[in-house]
Amino acid sequence: MSGHGDPIPMISRKGGPLKGEAHVPGDKSISHRSLILGAMAVGETKVTGLLEGQDVLDTGRAMEAFGAEVVNHGGGEWSVHGVGVGGFAEPENVIDCGNSGTGVRLIMGAMATCPITVTFTGDASLNGRPMGRVTDPLALFGTVAVGREGGRLPMTIVGANAPVPVRYTVPVPSAQVKSAVLLAGLNAPGETVVIEKEATRDHTERMLVGFGADLSVEDTDEGRVITLKGQPELKPQTIIVPRDPSSAAFPVCAALLAEGSDVLVPNIGLNPTRAGLFYTLQEMGADLTFENMREEGGEPVADLRAKYSPDMVGIEVPPARAASMIDEYPVLSVVAAFAEGQTVMKGVKELRVKESDRIDAMAKGLRAAGVTVDEGPDWWTVTGAGFGNVAGGITAQSCLDHRIAMSFLVMGLATNAPMSVDDGGPIATSFPIFEGLMTQLGAGITRSNV
Ligand code: S3P
Repeated sequence: MSGHGDPIPMISRKGGPLKGEAHVPGDKSISHRSLILGAMAVGETKVTGLLEGQDVLDTGRAMEAFGAEVVNHGGGEWSVHGVGVGGFAEPENVIDCGNSGTGVRLIMGAMATCPITVTFTGDASLNGRPMGRVTDPLALFGTVAVGREGGRLPMTIVGANAPVPVRYTVPVPSAQVKSAVLLAGLNAPGETVVIEKEATRDHTERMLVGFGADLSVEDTDEGRVITLKGQPELKPQTIIVPRDPSSAAFPVCAALLAEGSDVLVPNIGLNPTRAGLFYTLQEMGADLTFENMREEGGEPVADLRAKYSPDMVGIEVPPARAASMIDEYPVLSVVAAFAEGQTVMKGVKELRVKESDRIDAMAKGLRAAGVTVDEGPDWWTVTGAGFGNVAGGITAQSCLDHRIAMSFLVMGLATNAPMSVDDGGPIATSFPIFEGLMTQLGAGITRSNV
């Protein structure tokens, strides 16, 4: 699990149709933020439907190390007794964020304007990922970061003693960077302004407003300008975490690919900054419908119904949509392998610095399984072979990346020969019930060493 345990080889094979309802876990992005903002509020925040994946559990443990009290009441009910903005205590030990880029980057932001020194580490995947994108703007508040070559973990951050507010244009489309700066801005006096040229997921902004921060967003020629007034007292909240569209992507795509399938994935948030995959699949001709469209907690929510879709075609995914489906390209590339014609994915260089280089990881496995993939630094194409024409029959490397592992296991439900992955352990970081949920739908996904 998250690179710490023994590998869990898994295999998936073509079988009967997938049928039934897939109740996917809570949203990972919102779960991290619930714990972190809860820890920065004064009083008790209650959270229902928290994702109990390893990434989020690691963030919960980190919040405890900073002095918050995090309590698991069972059944997805959690509470956080926060210490207030600027109230983080210095942890006694190193903070291990496991596999989670979101965890470490948001926590770095949250502690950056507290007068404490913190050392962060993670698993082999996280320790290979760039942190300069976060430590550069945090330095503007007055923090000092010392890490390994290339700005990599393990890394020590000395929080600013007398933080100053910051105006920062995020150079890459990254909600993690944006959020780190906003969280740091909470304990700086005056106004912190973050500008993003491309809109990325906006959970931090929405939740900060919910917690009582004075935050406004303006769309200008420069981009989305987010202005946050520093040093508020955050008020504890009751949060119901919506189900994760990025997890929903796996049973949805599995149903499109497995012959005769009809699967309902209820209660999925369709926040426009997250829902790009579903619109892309519809454009490809997928039989995917949004049922019971409604608003919950200010967010659009629907039940997704996905049916076997043997007539999908490749499309060019609009690059402007990339940020709203950045985590879904691996599984999209699997669907593209079964479509007719080419799927073109441009403007996606961020895929190269996720839990793995996701273009490289998917391209290697897809090619080995008989699919044509071309790639460049910030683009890739998958030439669909059509249903019945994808060989499979290989063991793909999951590269310590949950979404790579799940994507290849979904692929095996439609390849001519089964697909294996060397290690399904990382799946527990975001979707700990994946195997049971998929099996219940009828998918032939099992551990291969039992
Ligand atoms: C996330 C932001 C995205 C995404 C990640 C979750 C977040 O990362 O890939 O899974 O919760 O803010 P980037 O900010 O690196 O794009």
